[in-house]
Amino acid sequence: MVAEILYDSQSRVFHISNSVMSYLIQVDGNGKILQLYFGEKICLSGNFKHLVEKSKRPMSIYETTDDEFYSYEHIKQEIPESGSSDFRIPAIKVRQSNGDYSMDLKYYSYRIFNGKNKIEKLPHSYVSVSDEACTLELKLKDAHSGLIVNLYYSVFSDRSVIARSIELVNSGKENLMIERLMPLNLDLPTSDYEIIHLSGAWGRERHIKKNSLHSGMQSFGSTRGHSSHNHNPFFILKKEKADEYNGECIGFSFVYSGDFTSCIEVDSYSTTRVQLGMNSETFCWKLKPGEHFHSPEVIITHSSKGLSDLSYTLHSFINENIINGYWKKRERPVKINSWEAFYFDFDEEKLLTFANKAKELGVELFVLDDGWFGDRSSDDKSLGDWIVNREKFPNGLDKLVSSIRSIGLGFGIWIEPEMVNPNSRLYREHPDWILKFPNKKPKLGRNQYVLNFGNIDVVNYIFDSLCEVFDKVQVDYIKWDMNRSILDSYDSELLYDEQGEVRHRYIIGVYRLYKMISQKYPKILIESCASGGGRFDLGMLYYASQTWTSDCTDAIERLKIQYGTSLAYPLSSMGAHVSVSPNHQNNRMVSLKTRIETAYFGNFGLELDPNKLSEYEKLLLREGIEFYKKNRYTFQYGRFFRLSSPFENNDTVWMVISEDRNHGIGSSYKVLNEINHSYKRIKLKGLHPEKKYRVKFSIKSPFNNLIYTGDELMKIGLSLSDASSGQHYDKIGYDQSEDFSSILFYIDVNE
Ligand code: DGJ
Repeated sequence: MVAEILYDSQSRVFHISNSVMSYLIQVDGNGKILQLYFGEKICLSGNFKHLVEKSKRPMSIYETTDDEFYSYEHIKQEIPESGSSDFRIPAIKVRQSNGDYSMDLKYYSYRIFNGKNKIEKLPHSYVSVSDEACTLELKLKDAHSGLIVNLYYSVFSDRSVIARSIELVNSGKENLMIERLMPLNLDLPTSDYEIIHLSGAWGRERHIKKNSLHSGMQSFGSTRGHSSHNHNPFFILKKEKADEYNGECIGFSFVYSGDFTSCIEVDSYSTTRVQLGMNSETFCWKLKPGEHFHSPEVIITHSSKGLSDLSYTLHSFINENIINGYWKKRERPVKINSWEAFYFDFDEEKLLTFANKAKELGVELFVLDDGWFGDRSSDDKSLGDWIVNREKFPNGLDKLVSSIRSIGLGFGIWIEPEMVNPNSRLYREHPDWILKFPNKKPKLGRNQYVLNFGNIDVVNYIFDSLCEVFDKVQVDYIKWDMNRSILDSYDSELLYDEQGEVRHRYIIGVYRLYKMISQKYPKILIESCASGGGRFDLGMLYYASQTWTSDCTDAIERLKIQYGTSLAYPLSSMGAHVSVSPNHQNNRMVSLKTRIETAYFGNFGLELDPNKLSEYEKLLLREGIEFYKKNRYTFQYGRFFRLSSPFENNDTVWMVISEDRNHGIGSSYKVLNEINHSYKRIKLKGLHPEKKYRVKFSIKSPFNNLIYTGDELMKIGLSLSDASSGQHYDKIGYDQSEDFSSILFYIDVNE
């Protein structure tokens, strides 16, 4: 069923729904918007009274004198305001110029329309045809301050997804200060949930963390100016018993790449308030009379069938309703990146042999990473000077690029447009273009300062200098890096009470440059990167169709990173490269087979110098790339199933399955080999129960090439027992498992 929003004028209830979920809100007699229900689709009786739970409790403050039951402390609301009788965290706090921060937002009007609202200057979900979504706009007003608040709810057809955002308009005569703004506030009637969120650090991004809810507040976020390696702007609340394939889960994703906060508050009556939005620590916005401010959007996803289904909903939503432009649903090229092969030490000749050898392996795109500009030979100079390094490229980039094209490779280039080294021409000419506090020395991170992207002249200058490079040589791909967190967020052009706007203005400037580049070069594939996965979020994916998942390229570490990332993001968004062994980040030795079979599950690429490969390694890579290309659409856009978690087990198992469910590829990875270990069967997912499938392994196994029904594979399982340590297969020539080994299995319908 298509998305629909029904309004019952008698009960003043809005039923936002599609075939799979319902979201019920009500306008009460005081003009407040109450949350009645969010979850699986329901048929309504029209009786909602019991859903507004309120009672007369000692110590409560009453909002009205004639109703001692009416305290916001006990009412589930959609937009709780500061200074009310609620006492829990507000979703909105706006201060008037006399210091008054109490608010009294009252319902004014509504509008329902087909399609999806756009958010000026910010990334947002979208629809391709208008009946793919239906949107409710609720208008509220605060009579004292003149603040108008528009709440937006969009529901998508047949996806368990709701997008929410808030727009504030100052219709009064004085400035208003927005001090807190949470586009998501969801009050839930119980607290029997666990929170799952993705956290980590550089090189180990998006590890899965689980915590039970407890009384009081749990919160995480970013104050780094980017969504960060540390906490991803995504989390799940799941019922305690829910797991990968059962139970209720609710996902929350922020379509934003800057600072954020998420807060989960369990009150004294065991209700739960969930919020996601702007980080009040670093955000504050002066809204002048007549101005409006639109928040970034939050995506809420729901499933009553466990985490796998929730991820599937998110994956297809991101592929269809976030990623846009030329690369939407297009197969992404197999690339080779120069970074780990050469770091800064390359020249035209080296790169050409590198590219030629890569081509022989089946690579499609050559990417020139950091070091091609100014007189860059280390990370302490030339950032900001986007002119070709003549020492490394005496003929400009033209010759390199035309030779690369002549052998049939595409050309990609690295940029880090938001930053500048103090030792650069740009900084010497425009020292005032960086973010810094007045009369204080700005702090360095990776030897660089942050350009003030809130200043449109800076953005335009960077755009022009990049275009000069891009226009001379045709560019097919950009790796857009960002290698330090933001600290000195001060803009001397803004007044003292506008400094809280700097970081949001910065990120709007970043989005602006993304938009200018993608409008001028619509076919360029952009991969965002922030020292690996420090800005892996839906805001980036709106502009850049893929993200460099992590600077850690070790296959074993990548199991956790890719597995964790897959909770929220599709495989089509994750860059995954094969690098050398021992690995450059952690010195681990891993077989090439395992490295290849891990990188398959993402946008496959190489991060090594093919000149240094043995003939056997070249053969493995050639075959691997051929296999990837044959199955690329399934790897990038197939349905992904997590079958065994690296956070809980020694073995990680996952699989992808094609849209028609006729073929799939799975892989099982062993971290440490075990002695005389147990038999292992893994139940596959997503197959046609009655169809027959042939299963082939990437190792010599007694179970190779057998035929099973989908039902057998899903209910009995695929035997992955291997020959190591005590079983007899070693004597008869089957492959033995070892530390860091993998078994790929290929499943195909056997007509
Ligand atoms: C950090 C990125 O994540 C790396 O892949 C590489 O591009 C370096 N920056 C280059 O400076």
